[in-house]
Amino acid sequence: MGAPLRLGIAGLGTVGVGVVKIVRKQAAMLATRTGRRIEITAVSARDANKDRGVNLSSYAWESDPVALASRDDVDIFVELMGGADGPAKDATEAALAAGKDVVTANKAMLALHGQTLAEQAEAAGRVISFEAAVAGGIPIIKALREGLAGNDITRVMGVMNGTCNYILTRMENAELPYDTVFQEAADLGYLEADPTLDVGGIDAGHKLAILSAIAFGTRPDFAGIELEGIERVTIEDIHQAADMGFRIKLLGVAQRTGRGLEQRMMPCLVPASSPLGQLEGGTNMVVVEGDAVEQIVMRGPGAGEGPTASAVMGDICDLARGTRLATFGQPADGLANVPPARSGLPAPYYLRMALVDKPGALAKISTVLGDSGISIDRMRQYGHSESTAPVLIVTHKTTREALDVALIAMQQTDVMASAPVALRIEHV
Ligand code: NAP
Ligand code: HSE
Repeated sequence: MGAPLRLGIAGLGTVGVGVVKIVRKQAAMLATRTGRRIEITAVSARDANKDRGVNLSSYAWESDPVALASRDDVDIFVELMGGADGPAKDATEAALAAGKDVVTANKAMLALHGQTLAEQAEAAGRVISFEAAVAGGIPIIKALREGLAGNDITRVMGVMNGTCNYILTRMENAELPYDTVFQEAADLGYLEADPTLDVGGIDAGHKLAILSAIAFGTRPDFAGIELEGIERVTIEDIHQAADMGFRIKLLGVAQRTGRGLEQRMMPCLVPASSPLGQLEGGTNMVVVEGDAVEQIVMRGPGAGEGPTASAVMGDICDLARGTRLATFGQPADGLANVPPARSGLPAPYYLRMALVDKPGALAKISTVLGDSGISIDRMRQYGHSESTAPVLIVTHKTTREALDVALIAMQQTDVMASAPVALRIEHV
């Protein structure tokens, strides 16, 4: 049996407590699997008196996570506090500077500061592991960095925010409006402290930025993501999509194109019968396509104590065994600085608009679309109110650029009662 591996854990919330529980419950199994005892020596959180449902009395308490990160009796600093900046980043940097490896679940920190942290880790000869940062219990980081390392990855996509998938599927299954289900999700404790991280697509965007960096050997570029949340998706959109054989998902897609790195995270229509269309509740799904492997699909719980702690423990076991990989799968100074590119591939679009109910309104919209070279596949008017006429249009394939020109021109007419909603139809 090798020397014990000593953990210092900062953050004793949902994930931190989950990790403590596994280390305690599975001590013998972990030692057998890794050849070392895995021990917790010190912990940190804000409130030293909070009952966390686990016995922490045998661990040293540090009120300052930076101090914890630098302790002599800590080999691995486990950062489970969250937040892109502040104590999480300060303590991570302190750990690297003190010669510790870091395990974290912090997607925001990696999406925004991953490049500098990776460079710092390499300069110090340490590693940063972050399986739990993307898609919770699904081992997608390991799959991309190791199992699929022999592939030229052509596309990564998926549903990576369980809260949004819960809201969208619950709206459909219970026929409830967005606001009601949003409140339900809040009451169930699903939403991040700042809910816009979930429903604004930001949390899922952080995850996509991390996956893109590994998949395409590029610097993490969260700012380059075309980002849109689910706040404008209505129960009518969900009904209309279902009528046409589609479901609405907050879908992330990343691919390297001749023009740059395309990364988008936005609500899309996907075929209801596809694996992504079938995904219910808080579950995540990641699809990876590579030149050799073709396509793989990974599905599982994207959040919660057990699944996220499971991913953290996978990283800790790797380090215990001596598996040490570059943060984004290759040396950080070799990660390409690729400009962001908007999707050049044409796709059909779903458009919902409320028109002023007067003669010629529909004709004006058809003309605007025609002037932008956009052909209408299907059109439907539904649920007439007193003064507005809700209209749904499905276009034939068109580019986002052409659609944007049309959307601007539509709003310059005198027949739009409100801003139109446009959702890409993705044939996955
Ligand atoms: P959480 O339940 O809110 O717990 C955060 C913990 O950090 C708390 O114990 C808190 O202390 C501690 N903390 C916050 N600021 C601190 C500070 N300045 N000094 C010391 N401790 C501090 O968060 P979580 O859900 O476990 O998430 C932790 C990380 O995992 C985040 O990066 C999150 O994005 C990521 N993640 C979470 C999930 C999930 O399902 N929850 C899934 C994937 C990734 P107190 O308890 O004393 O307040
Ligand atoms: N808020 C995130 C989600 C937590 O709903 O997926 C897991 O990262």
